Amino acid sequence: MKGIILAGGTGSRLFPSTLACSKQMLTVYDKPMIYYPLSILMLAGIREILIISTPRDIPGFKELFGDGKQLGLDISYKIQEQPKGLAEAFIIGEEFIGRDSVCMILGDNLFYGNSLSAAVQRAAKLTDGAVLFLYHVDNPSDYGVATIDSNGAVTEIEEKPINPKSRYAVTGLYFYDNDIVNIAKSVTPSKRGELEITSVNNEYIKRGKVRAEFLNRGNAWLDTGTHKTMLEASMFIQAIESRQGLYIACIEEIAFRQGFINKEQLIALGQKMKNSDYGQYLLRLAEGDGV
Ligand code: G1P
Repeated sequence: MKGIILAGGTGSRLFPSTLACSKQMLTVYDKPMIYYPLSILMLAGIREILIISTPRDIPGFKELFGDGKQLGLDISYKIQEQPKGLAEAFIIGEEFIGRDSVCMILGDNLFYGNSLSAAVQRAAKLTDGAVLFLYHVDNPSDYGVATIDSNGAVTEIEEKPINPKSRYAVTGLYFYDNDIVNIAKSVTPSKRGELEITSVNNEYIKRGKVRAEFLNRGNAWLDTGTHKTMLEASMFIQAIESRQGLYIACIEEIAFRQGFINKEQLIALGQKMKNSDYGQYLLRLAEGDGV
């Protein structure tokens, strides 16, 4: 399974903070936002990753991650010229995907929870159909909303409906078989001229091939759409990290624990950042601290 992080868009709801840099490069408490979705792919065991972003922002991400080798990953980059919809990622990424299945995560989606690792590892085994992650929210109209039948199956998804049929939002974490490339090519652009991920998901539903994974209580799917929700997300991460002394979405730690890198490589990453608490945390981990 391959992984795509879509980190495009203009971030206009966060102007002026995003006038000159990518939204996904802004900090959420103690690390760039994109660390959070990257950590989810890594927890799923996915190591071949394509980052799709704007011509302006690709150089920044390259500076941040390079080819990913220091994390035991293989990271490549592609440009999305215009924000023409989330599903365009599979057309841009066609060559990268090749004959594989693929997981896409949106660069501004933050997940945290105890059952998450197991859930994404399960989903990463997919060879047929699609797995969508659903989350109960107070404001479903802001998202793609799933209609769910009495058996818990998804029968339809509506994009930002005024009268939502449920409170289950479709999160920005999607797993697909290889059909995704052709499906993305075949959907017609929406009224706003975008290739909607919701159209692709509805095609999978029509084929009877969607499995829903409910992220229930005890899981967090945090919003980063506005400055207020960004601050709330930062405070959430800070509260847990400060209390436990364990970091969330620490990609270097995950690389180490997953066996993608060894102790010497972890120390080298920690040394580079040793003036920050984050760097010191990595050095402590290398000494055997943590759980
Ligand atoms: C997009 C999707 C929407 C989904 C959301 C998750 O919306 O179109 O279906 O629920 O991501 O973050 P956007 O964030 O582009 O408004």
